[in-house]
Amino acid sequence: MCGIFGCILKNGDAAPIIHAALKRLEYRGYDSVGEVTIHKDKLFIKKDQGKIDDVHTRHNLDDLPGRVGVGHTRWATHGAPYQTNAHPHIDCAGQVAVVHNGVIENFAELRRELEELGHVFKSKTDSEVIPHLIEEKLKGGLTLLEAMREAVNRLEGSYAIAVVSVDEPDKIFCARKESPLVVGVGEDAVYCASDITAFLPLTNRAVIIENGELVVLGDDGYGIRKIADFSSVSREPQIIDWTPKMAEKQGYPHFMLKEIHEQPSCLRDTLKLQERYLELMTTFLDRAGEVFLVACGTSYHACLAASYMFSKLAFLATHPIIASEFVEQHGRAVNIDSTILAVSQSGETADTLDAVEHARLRAATVLGLTNVIGSTLTRISRVYVSQQSGPEVGVAATKTFTSQLSVLAQLALRLAKKRGKISHLEIEQLEEKLEHIPEVAEMIVQSQREKIRQLAKKYRDARCFFFLGRGISWATALEGRLKLLEIAYAPSIAYPAGESKHGPISLIEEGFPVIFVCPRDETHKTIVGNIMEMKARGASIIAIVEEGDEEIKSLADDYVEIVKGVPEVLSPILYVVPLQLFAYYMAIERGCDPDMPRNLAKSVTVK
Ligand code: F6R
Repeated sequence: MCGIFGCILKNGDAAPIIHAALKRLEYRGYDSVGEVTIHKDKLFIKKDQGKIDDVHTRHNLDDLPGRVGVGHTRWATHGAPYQTNAHPHIDCAGQVAVVHNGVIENFAELRRELEELGHVFKSKTDSEVIPHLIEEKLKGGLTLLEAMREAVNRLEGSYAIAVVSVDEPDKIFCARKESPLVVGVGEDAVYCASDITAFLPLTNRAVIIENGELVVLGDDGYGIRKIADFSSVSREPQIIDWTPKMAEKQGYPHFMLKEIHEQPSCLRDTLKLQERYLELMTTFLDRAGEVFLVACGTSYHACLAASYMFSKLAFLATHPIIASEFVEQHGRAVNIDSTILAVSQSGETADTLDAVEHARLRAATVLGLTNVIGSTLTRISRVYVSQQSGPEVGVAATKTFTSQLSVLAQLALRLAKKRGKISHLEIEQLEEKLEHIPEVAEMIVQSQREKIRQLAKKYRDARCFFFLGRGISWATALEGRLKLLEIAYAPSIAYPAGESKHGPISLIEEGFPVIFVCPRDETHKTIVGNIMEMKARGASIIAIVEEGDEEIKSLADDYVEIVKGVPEVLSPILYVVPLQLFAYYMAIERGCDPDMPRNLAKSVTVK
């Protein structure tokens, strides 16, 4: 979950480069930050708790000497976000410094063992065992690379590690198991990082490091070896076609707002996906005995919506399931006939990968939908589709959600065609509507933004919100709820509207805001009844409705209109947009930072 970065420059100081790169990785965690550089055979370290800008104000992260160094931005797992727990961590002699992303599961046992050998620990982190383990191995006369290999062989859990040492001051040593690691190759520099965004303004030539590999960075480039047998691996850099501009704010006050506005162009890009992979995936889905749609958070909401799409268009029943529950709920039922469609923006979410690993062990077919090429999910899927949304920096998923929905709708339509369950005419009409979704999304963002900002002003002090929807709009309601609570810290509940009277309605009192997602689909009539029930108990109704839906508009205290004629199965792509904007403006009204909500990180690589 943390972000790591390292660089070896031919000329100049590493510290400002590390600082800027950590800023680009800050979405991965921002509990503390630290850097280490090497100069004249000495380590220079600065680290402290807090966000990068605050730590920089206090300590000036740019004035460490030396052209080689590594840095870390932390999302705390083991040990509170204090200065002592910030990375880098060093050995007893102060010769070896380590930054680590991941979780060392056997750290307690290793720490005990090392303490018995006389090592003194300064932090409460799992990561600190790594420099001490390396130090211990170095005492036995091994080279740094050998010591590093021996050390990582003792680690259980996940890691992407970057190590510098005064013994070999012109090198950085890295290793990877489960946590992401990429190498960037520039003209006059070489980099390592948790993701490509970190070095994108510096180079677009990237080498994806695989599980079980060690990398040595030096003035002559990079060398990869397998941890298992030390054999060399030859891998050329690939050209990444994301521009650095894609990862910047481009004049918006926050990445989240920029990413909401990027949705039309991202949706356009999803319509140009490689046919071959979509077709292959459709074939697997068609043949599957049983299909599980596995994901976490927002991606799970995309899966829930997809289950309606597959059922309504292709008559395929699927199980949408939260990844962390998959093994418990369905673990034993998974077999060679099962197909797992794992959806993960980052492709690195530990819970999702864990579910996938379980399915793979039981010989199930794994399909992946992700935004990050080179991520673990792309490597362990039989077939994967890249959703092509570009980098998403805001912690809250927005553009990647609507892109996921668009890809899943395309899959459902292809499957419908293959299975011949609905008429060609209906398929053609839906395909045409899908083509127009990007421009409609654009209209919604442009025309409704100000109205939604005013709504946020009106409801900013509400203590709690209710989100209700029926059918596929339940997924939209869940996503609207997640956005609001995660970035505006507004306690919120979401239910299928029909279920609300089985308990949750007891919360309703005068003025309680209830947000209804109500496209004009088959559920329209019933949802009008649900609105009446809430209204009768004094709720304030905010409705996301189709243009000209006078019936619901007359019942609502406030409403946001979506253009006419959006087909039911595509409605979440558009009806979620006002809810994203509402969450964003609520966060602003309530003084919260929408890009960096507390306690969260963009990529959740712990279980
Ligand atoms: C919410 C959010 C998270 C992620 C979840 C899964 O805005 O971003 O709920 O959706 O952590 O992440 P991925 O899709 O990367 O597996």
